[in-house]
Amino acid sequence: DATVAAPTWAARLRDIADFPKPGILFKDIMPLLADGDDFRAAIAAMCARWRGQRLDAVVGIESRGFILGAAMAHELGIGFVPVRKPGKLPGKVLREEYTLEYRSDCIEMHADALPAGARVAVIDDVLATGGTLVAALALVRRLGVDVVGAGVLVELDGLGGRGRWEAGLPLHAELVY
Ligand code: PRP
Ligand code: MG
Repeated sequence: DATVAAPTWAARLRDIADFPKPGILFKDIMPLLADGDDFRAAIAAMCARWRGQRLDAVVGIESRGFILGAAMAHELGIGFVPVRKPGKLPGKVLREEYTLEYRSDCIEMHADALPAGARVAVIDDVLATGGTLVAALALVRRLGVDVVGAGVLVELDGLGGRGRWEAGLPLHAELVY
């Protein structure tokens, strides 16, 4: 359900070839973040997806999902909960292992980060193979949390990400390439 006409801020995204490995075309969101008006417009678009429904928190995925997710939580007036790379969280954690396009990895969350039944949206910058977002969905659900959907700034079509996402669960992408 991406927007049909690309918003003006989409011009701030930059393609970097062969990063972080040969053959990978990297979508760089840094120029967008560096522009105040366009960063704000992008966050407003991502927030608009959740207006009119109850959300208790935004769950953001390290690293770039922190930037977008925290800005969204602030804008929506709700809390922010991080899904982190391993070994970063000081409390008792739950861990989820997964494989993706150019590495295998794992993510962690504080076991007590959210009360059971809390309604959350999971946010990241880019959907590629979907490995990260699908792992985050499984991880958050282990807390007994109600994941109402997910949002990304950019969906890379053709890498199978949307196909790995749970059928019927909203997955909003502002831009599809
Ligand atoms: C990137 C991107 C997404 C993920 C998408 O994160 O930010 O989190 O890969 O790929 P997938 O759909 O194949 O899982 P990465 O860990 O590379 O970098 P970051 O720490 O800068 O967010
Ligand atoms: Mg990431």
